[in-house]
Amino acid sequence: MAIILDGKALAAQVKREVAEQVATSGLVPGLAVIIVGENSASRIYVNAKKKDCEACGIASFEFALDADAGEAKLLELIAELNARDDVHGILVQLPLPAGYSEQAVIQAISPKKDVDAFHFENVGKITTGDFIFLPCTPAGVMEILEHYGIDPAGKHCVVVGRSNIVGKPQALLLLHKHATVTICHSRTPDLGAITRQADILVAAVGKAGLITADMVKPDAVVIDVAINRMDDGKICGDVDYDAVAEVASHITPVPGGIGPMTRAVLLRNTLKATQL
Ligand code: GUN
Repeated sequence: MAIILDGKALAAQVKREVAEQVATSGLVPGLAVIIVGENSASRIYVNAKKKDCEACGIASFEFALDADAGEAKLLELIAELNARDDVHGILVQLPLPAGYSEQAVIQAISPKKDVDAFHFENVGKITTGDFIFLPCTPAGVMEILEHYGIDPAGKHCVVVGRSNIVGKPQALLLLHKHATVTICHSRTPDLGAITRQADILVAAVGKAGLITADMVKPDAVVIDVAINRMDDGKICGDVDYDAVAEVASHITPVPGGIGPMTRAVLLRNTLKATQL
């Protein structure tokens, strides 16, 4: 039976550290979160981020725009927030509704306030390893591996998913830690043949039940990044948890694994943006 990697507990520890650093710094970090339109998953994430901020002494400013507000209005708001001294981090919750260019919106955020690390300047810095901010989810994965003494150096890490938010930066962070990295995606034939080679398997697709026990090498470390909402309202990841937990050496649960870590890294990034 696999060891459960408890992201909830580790995230609570990170939050306590951030709260302490905020208290001793005498700074009041400010995070602006913009949500456009009504997306129930986004609403849940944004509410959670707000609660996290309050718990750490970070001021949170929420801006909710109607789906039809338009890109020009959103860009105007970002320009205002870029100029505000009490706002140190800006996060535009993705996905945006149809009709908005996510790239145009992300690139409008000042790289110094880009706590998601999605701006080209920050993406470039992540690629070379000279980063200021690390992207929240991949950094949360690295932190949980480190906490449990799992060193990617020399390991074969297989990342399933190639999104700009998770898959691509995840592969880079593992590479920086000297792993051999393979990225798989929806056009990869015989996915199981590759995932079975993984010493560390990261699933980041958003498809419940994608990773079954026969696709996992015995004693592999399995990290499930996905948050899929089922018809009954429950959430689950990409990994067939109960069966894979019988095969893996370590596994992250959903919920309570990477999700809380993502939010914890956001708080760290917001404090860092304030200190810059
Ligand atoms: N939507 C899903 N994950 C994320 C994230 O990490 N940042 C933002 N801004 N939106 C998201």
